[in-house]
Amino acid sequence: MKDLYAVIGTPIQHSKSPQIHQAFAEQTGEDIHYDRILGQPEKLPLYIKAFREMRGLGLNVTVPLKEEAFQLANERSDRAERAGAVNTLILLEDGRIQGDNTDGIGLVRDLSLNHDFKFKGKRVLILGAGGAVRGVVQPLMEQGICELVIANRTVSKAETVAATFADLGLISGCGLDAITGEFDLIINGTAAGLSGELPAIPDGILAKEGWCYDMMYGDQPTPFVRWGEAQGAVESLDGLGMLVEQAAESFYLWRDVRPETAPVIQMLRG
Ligand code: ATR
Repeated sequence: MKDLYAVIGTPIQHSKSPQIHQAFAEQTGEDIHYDRILGQPEKLPLYIKAFREMRGLGLNVTVPLKEEAFQLANERSDRAERAGAVNTLILLEDGRIQGDNTDGIGLVRDLSLNHDFKFKGKRVLILGAGGAVRGVVQPLMEQGICELVIANRTVSKAETVAATFADLGLISGCGLDAITGEFDLIINGTAAGLSGELPAIPDGILAKEGWCYDMMYGDQPTPFVRWGEAQGAVESLDGLGMLVEQAAESFYLWRDVRPETAPVIQMLRG
């Protein structure tokens, strides 16, 4: 029987994770099977129990289960602890459940390794203040950026997230209409793109030589990717590379083998 892994969330039908992990498995010669499970938060413990009985060794957790997965994990990595959300579960044979969050490292690796973005000394703006943003703040700060501004439609949430990470460096929170100055990198971590919208941000906040990055992706350029292009960004990227990189980090946690991501990103773009 093959070692079993899966992604769990709602909706899950269009998840690219099975395709990505099967590609990693073929590339590295790891004999695994990777499935998708449609799941609701309140039933997560039941799914995990059943999954274990089928030789399930690990799960990727996506919307809306990341906070529930955080609660269920008996042990959590530092980055998951700070994020308050877990996207990777490791089901140990002795019954313990380890939780990690590979989203932030996925974003950082895509920008720095796949696109050669230099974080050091940069002024960064991140839009949104939900789970997606909480998952990336610590890994971003660890890259040596000089300032992080978190701007959100609901101001109080931006202020709360900024306060949670304040010990890591210069971080502040504000409303979308209160963004001032210019940024070397603007990251969209809002869910606005899901409804084809652009967060209500002013023009002229991208520095000369600035970059844009949308944590979302789609078959067509997202509204935010288009906005970045219109603002003259050197690069305006979507989150497909982040998706593959976070998957690679999960694969590494489970199998102790680091897959090549470039061919898989290329396959998905193709
Ligand atoms: P996730 O876990 O994906 O981050 P979430 O916790 O529901 O999801 O957070 C969604 C984020 O997208 C929030 O920051 C939300 O702003 P509010 O806190 O004001 O709700 C943001 N968002 C969603 N739709 C948006 C829109 N149309 N314009 C701007 N921000 C939006």
